[in-house]
Amino acid sequence: MSDLDNPQPSAPAPDPDAPCEGCLSPSRRKFLTRLSLGLGALGAALIGVPSVAFLLGLRKPTKLWRDVGGVEQFPQGSTILVKFEDPSPLPWSGVTANTAAWLRHETENEFIAFSVDCTHLGCPIRWLPDANLFMCPCHGGVFYANGTVASGPPPRPLSRYPVRVADGRVQILTSPLPIT
Ligand code: FES
Repeated sequence: MSDLDNPQPSAPAPDPDAPCEGCLSPSRRKFLTRLSLGLGALGAALIGVPSVAFLLGLRKPTKLWRDVGGVEQFPQGSTILVKFEDPSPLPWSGVTANTAAWLRHETENEFIAFSVDCTHLGCPIRWLPDANLFMCPCHGGVFYANGTVASGPPPRPLSRYPVRVADGRVQILTSPLPIT
C-alpha cells in the first residue's frame, strides 16, 4: 500500500495572531528599538559635539596660574623641575594630566619656565647642569639654557610658559602647548 492510498492529515495552518514561542512581544520590541536608537544618538552626541566644537574653535583652551613654590625655593641661577597638572585635563586623563616645566631663576626678578616637552616628538627633556644644556634622550636633541636649539632634530626652541611672582610665590601660567 502506498502513501497515496493512506494520506497523512496535514498540519494545521499557523495562526498569525498567536504568540510564538521565543518571539518578543510588539511592545517589548518597540521598547528595545527605541532604547537602541537612544543609545546610538547619545553615543554620537558624546563623540560629535566636542569634535564639532573643537573644529569650530568654540572650545577655548584653558589657562590657569599655578603656584609652584616660594621664591626662596629657587636660588638664583638654578634650573629646577616643577610639576603641576595640565590646565585642561579630561575626567579620564589620570596620571597623563600630570606635566612639568623646567624653571630657571635668571636674575633677581626674572624667571623662565620651559615646557619639558621636546619640540621634536614630545619626549621629556632633561637638564644637564654640568653642560649647561637641555638634552632630549629620545633622538639626541640638545637645547641651550635659553631654550634655543643647539643640535639634533628639534625644529624650534623649547616652548615657554609665562611666569610671575605674586606675594613671594612663583606662579606659572599653564596652558595647552602646541602639538609637536
Ligand atoms: S623627541 Fe626630542 S629629539 Fe626627538
